[in-house]
Amino acid sequence: MTTSTRCLPLALFALSIAGRSAAQVVPLIANIEGRSTTSLNGQWQVIVDPYDVGALDYRAHALKGNGAFYTNYKSQSKSELVEYDFDTSGRLNVPGDWNTQRDSLLFYEGSVWYKRSFNYSKGTKKRTFVHFGAANYMAYVYLNGEELGQHEGGFTPFTFEITDRVRAEGNFLVLRVNNTRSKDYVPTVSTDWWNYGGITRPVTLVEVPETFIQDYSVQLEKGSTRQIKGWLQLNGQQRQQKVTIRIPEAGSNKTFQTDAAGRVEFSFDADLTLWSPENPKLYRVEIASETDQVTDQIGFRSISVQGTEILLNEKPVFLRGINIHEEAPLRSGRAWSEDDARILLGWAKELGCNFVRLAHYPHNEAMLRMADQMGMLVWEEVPVYWTIEWENPNTLQNAKNQLGELIARDHNRAALIIYSVANETPISDARNRFLGQLIQEAHSNDPTRLVSAALQAEETKNGNRLTIHINDPIANELDVMGNNEYIGWYVHNIADLDSTDWVSKYDKPLIMSEFGGDAQFGKHGDAQTRFSEEYQESLYEHQIAMLKRISFLRGTTPWILMDFRSPRRTLPGIEDYFNRKGLVSDHGEKKKAFLVLQQWYREKAKNP
Ligand code: GCU
Repeated sequence: MTTSTRCLPLALFALSIAGRSAAQVVPLIANIEGRSTTSLNGQWQVIVDPYDVGALDYRAHALKGNGAFYTNYKSQSKSELVEYDFDTSGRLNVPGDWNTQRDSLLFYEGSVWYKRSFNYSKGTKKRTFVHFGAANYMAYVYLNGEELGQHEGGFTPFTFEITDRVRAEGNFLVLRVNNTRSKDYVPTVSTDWWNYGGITRPVTLVEVPETFIQDYSVQLEKGSTRQIKGWLQLNGQQRQQKVTIRIPEAGSNKTFQTDAAGRVEFSFDADLTLWSPENPKLYRVEIASETDQVTDQIGFRSISVQGTEILLNEKPVFLRGINIHEEAPLRSGRAWSEDDARILLGWAKELGCNFVRLAHYPHNEAMLRMADQMGMLVWEEVPVYWTIEWENPNTLQNAKNQLGELIARDHNRAALIIYSVANETPISDARNRFLGQLIQEAHSNDPTRLVSAALQAEETKNGNRLTIHINDPIANELDVMGNNEYIGWYVHNIADLDSTDWVSKYDKPLIMSEFGGDAQFGKHGDAQTRFSEEYQESLYEHQIAMLKRISFLRGTTPWILMDFRSPRRTLPGIEDYFNRKGLVSDHGEKKKAFLVLQQWYREKAKNP
């Protein structure tokens, strides 16, 4: 179960009563970094289990007893049969995908068991939680031989309360992580990115007081540049408390009282320097209750739309962006660290960007906090990608859960301005209903941000002129339209870009959320030679000329910053299982087209 911020009080009340007995995924604790924590990162013992013999018997019934790997059972005598042993089964790094840590696991899809032993001296009158940044795709979690619960979705965090289960010595935390793809999952079976499996983000033990500050939102009210509007939610027995929100640098110090459900909504005026890419001002915000306190670095900015304009701090802005996959720069595999984020956003800054589209799933929290610090506006997306099972209620609930977890984690990040609910999904009534619900979910969960989706438009031809029509019905419900086009690569020729016009049925801003073509770094030829840097360079020159002619264009995120692994790219000697549409190679080498886009963005920064 995942809980969106709207129905938190009830769920928390139930859990703060029940939490000490039956464990399950609990609502996310905001700002894990700002708490007292113990990292469980490092080398974990693993068992690769392609046939799930650690979970199922030969009749595919759930295994109980010593044969189940989560019991970490050791044979008690020389004659006792035990056919697994974490201690002699090898190790993998956590965080980290398993695919790039062992050649034998590069293409592996299935289960891997992880075990981490630890001692833990628990503080008195404290509660303990274990927090996972993410694990792809299904995670089944056990502590000391008992099930804690499971989580579905490879790109969002999850937490379990272990207060009554953790012991001073000899704890063993066991996960079965399975990245097998399935039609009813989100994403579904076909994607153009590598299905990295494993515990891909940090694992942390979090210690908090018996009644603690579960979550809070401290942001500017929609449409205001002075009024802070937010809420705070306590978790625990002592629900009615005095709480204070202090912003020392702004001379703001406000006190409020939580209600019987441990919740308070507040609003107050403050004189703030607004956050922007040019001036990413973050304030130290001190949030305290009678029993707990947490500090966060928060920026304040307003984001809205007006006709075809996107307004940042009430001024029109052009989003000079680039797409990024969560691939580690220079070493491949899943990115997860501050260093990874600093390098990737550093390259985007070098390009002249003020915006990035984090494709096609929620990236790690370090990326969002780095975007806050470096001044990079962010589009975040849930992996509703291509052909999802639109009629399947579980698939819809799964997509809603992932969106809810994304919002719960990042709703205090100034950099984050757009939630995207889909990428290149075929128009149908079922799809429209599905996306319509996700759009509503995003707006009701967080009315302060914009909602978009990467759509695909229709084209008509008149003589040699192409007209692209943005008329997808779902755009009606979006704040900002995104559109992916590959004119000059998958369709038509580069020259056709010079005679292509765009029309939109909607009085809304457009972000060209994807365009581009492949080039292998160092491969040279004329502008007609596929996969040469010159082809990609020419493609960008003609794309940019066309984009400049679109009157309602308010942003661009070319596909893509860096070459990334994809199982769909098999061309030997050129692709070798990499999508080569990056402007930077997977070794950090800049291609010619990088300079073309950089030049445009520098011009655009001067004359938006
Ligand atoms: C698609 C898709 C991307 C993909 C890209 C490509 O439009 O959204 O995920 O990688 O095009 O084909 O390179």
